[in-house]
Amino acid sequence: MCGIVGAAARQDVTSALLEGLKRLEYRGYDSAGIAVLNDHGLQRLRCNGKVAELVQETESTGLSGQVGIAHTRWATHGAPSDRNAHPHVAGMDGRIAVVHNGIIENHAALRKQQQDRGIAHDSDTDSEILACQIAGHLSAQNGLLDAVRAAVDEVEGSFAFGVIDREDPERIIGARRGSPLVVGHGDSGYYLASDPLALAEVSSQYCLLQNGDIVMISEGEAVVWNGSETVVREWREFQGTEVQSGLGDYEHHMQKEIFEQPDAVAQTLEGRIETGRVDDGILGPDAGTVLDATRAVQIAACGTSYHAALVARHWLERHAGIHCQVEIASEFRYRQHAQDPGTLFIAISQSGETADTLAALEMANQDPNYHATLAICNVAHSSMVQESDLTLLTHAGPEIGVASTKAFVTQLTALMLVVILLGRRRTLAPEAESDLVAQLANLPTRIGRVLELDAGIAALSKQFANRHHALFLGRGSHYPIAMEGALKLKEISYIHAEAYAAGELKHGPLALVDEDMPVVAVAPNNRLLEKLKSNLEEVRARGGRLYVFADRRSGFQSDDLMTVFELDAPENAVAPILFTVPLQLLAYHCAKIKETDIDQPRNLAKSVTVE
Ligand code: G6P
Repeated sequence: MCGIVGAAARQDVTSALLEGLKRLEYRGYDSAGIAVLNDHGLQRLRCNGKVAELVQETESTGLSGQVGIAHTRWATHGAPSDRNAHPHVAGMDGRIAVVHNGIIENHAALRKQQQDRGIAHDSDTDSEILACQIAGHLSAQNGLLDAVRAAVDEVEGSFAFGVIDREDPERIIGARRGSPLVVGHGDSGYYLASDPLALAEVSSQYCLLQNGDIVMISEGEAVVWNGSETVVREWREFQGTEVQSGLGDYEHHMQKEIFEQPDAVAQTLEGRIETGRVDDGILGPDAGTVLDATRAVQIAACGTSYHAALVARHWLERHAGIHCQVEIASEFRYRQHAQDPGTLFIAISQSGETADTLAALEMANQDPNYHATLAICNVAHSSMVQESDLTLLTHAGPEIGVASTKAFVTQLTALMLVVILLGRRRTLAPEAESDLVAQLANLPTRIGRVLELDAGIAALSKQFANRHHALFLGRGSHYPIAMEGALKLKEISYIHAEAYAAGELKHGPLALVDEDMPVVAVAPNNRLLEKLKSNLEEVRARGGRLYVFADRRSGFQSDDLMTVFELDAPENAVAPILFTVPLQLLAYHCAKIKETDIDQPRNLAKSVTVE
C-alpha cells in the first residue's frame, strides 16, 4: 500500500507534505520519510514509526524546500525500519530520491542486474530497485523524464511513484501503473498524491492520472504524457467531503464514524428512494437493460466488504429470488470459473482500490458470461468505479479508522437498493418493495436508538477486555454480522475472536467453551430464534458465559450466565444493519480499555493495494 505526496510550490512545502502524509496514514503507517530540494541539494529524513515522529524530526531539524516528496509506508518487501523507509535515494552521491507505492514484481532479477553493475543497495525494498533503475538511465543526454520513461518500461508490477533530482531542482516526475496517483493544483503550486484527500488543504482542483501516465509538475504547471503524446486529464473541484477529516468532539475516528452512521445511511438513501419505491435510474441510464437480463449475481470483496456481500446473498435469494454466489476476491481471482451466462458481477469496496477486488473485477470484465459489472464503492474517483460498467456510490463520507464501520452499514444499505431493483423484476411485489423501502427509510432513526446503548456496552466491555478469546454466533443473515463483530474485535482489541454459524457450534467449537470463553450471540426476533436459543442452551450447559444482543421481543432474560442487551429491531430485513452497531461499540470499548491504537491497529492498513 503506502501513501505518497509530492509538492512543487512558491513556498516551503514541508508542512503541505507532512499534512498530506497524515491524511494518507490510512494506507499504512509503519515508517515515514520526506526528501526536499533546497540550496544544500537533496535532503532527506526518514524514521521508523508514524508520521507524527517524522513531523517532530522535521521541525527539530528545520528542514525546508520548495520541491519535495514524502511517504508513509506499509511494509511489503523489507521489515519496517529506518533503512527500508522511503524516500530511497540512488545515483551519483544520492542524486535522485523516489517515493513508491505498489510492488515491483521483477525486483529480484533487477537487483541482480544492478549488483552485477556494481551498485550496492541500502535497503531490502523493491522500491530502491526502482530508484536505481531510474538512476541508471540518467546521463548527459538523458534527463529525469527520459530516465523515468526508460525505467517504467523495464519494471513489472504496479506502481505510483514520485521522483526528484538534485540536478533538476524545480520539478517532480510522477508515474502510475495500477496504483492510484492524482495531481492537485492550488494557489501556490502543483502537487502529487495517492489520494485527493491528501491535497484538499493546498489544492482547489485535482485530476486523476490514468494507467501509463507520466506527469511532470513544477510550481507553475503540470504536464501529463501517455506514451509519447501529451494528454489532458479532467480537472475536478474539491467537494466538501474530501476536506472534512477532523475528529470534532470524538476521541477516535472509529468512534466518530460509528456515530456518523445514521447520517451516512441517510446520505446513501438520499435521492434514491421516494414514495415507497427505489428510483429505477440509480445505477445509471443503461442499468435497466442490464437488470432485466440478469439471471444470477456473483459478488467478490475482501474484509468487511466481504461480510456485506454475505448478507446481500441472503437478501438477493430471499427478496429478489435470484441466485447469488459470494467469494473472497483473493480466491475468486485465481480460480477457474464455470459461470452461467447472464450473471451480474458486483465488486464491493470502501476504497475502490483493494488490489484483489480490483483484479476480480477486471477478470469479470473480460469474461462474457458476466454481462455487466457493478461497483458498490465509497470513493467516487476510485479505480473500481472507473473500471466497472455500473456504479452505486455509498456516500458514507471519508472513512479514516482502519476498522471499517460506516462504510459497512452504507454498503448494506446500497446493496438492499440493488436487491429491490432486481427483485422488482422477479419476485418482489410492489407492497413488499414499499415495506423494504420503509425499513430503509427508518434506518437512520433506528441506528440512532441503538447508539444509545453506548454507555451500557462500555460498562460490559470491562468484563470482556481482559479475555484472550471469544466466540461470536449468529444464524442466517446474522451469521455474517457475527463474522463482522469478531473481525472488529480482533482488528482493534487484538482479542482472538471467531464467528460460527450457531448450528455449527456442536461440530467442533463447543469443545472450546468453558468459563474463560465468552460467547457473543446475535439474536434477532426471526424464524431462526428458537433454533438459536437451543444453540445457546448448549453453551450454557457447558458453563459458557453468554452475551446476547437480542431484539427486545426475543424473550431473553439476563441471569448468572447470560447478559442480555436489548435492541429495538422489529423489521427483519434490515435487522443485520442494526445488530452490527452494538458489536462495533463492543470492539471499540474493549480496544479503548486495552489502550490499543484504535484508528491504526498494528500491522494493518485501510487500503490494501497489494495482493
Ligand atoms: C482492509 C481494511 C478493511 C477492509 C478491507 C477491504 O483490510 O482494513 O477494513 O474491509 O481492506 O477494503 P475495501 O476498501 O475493498 O472495502
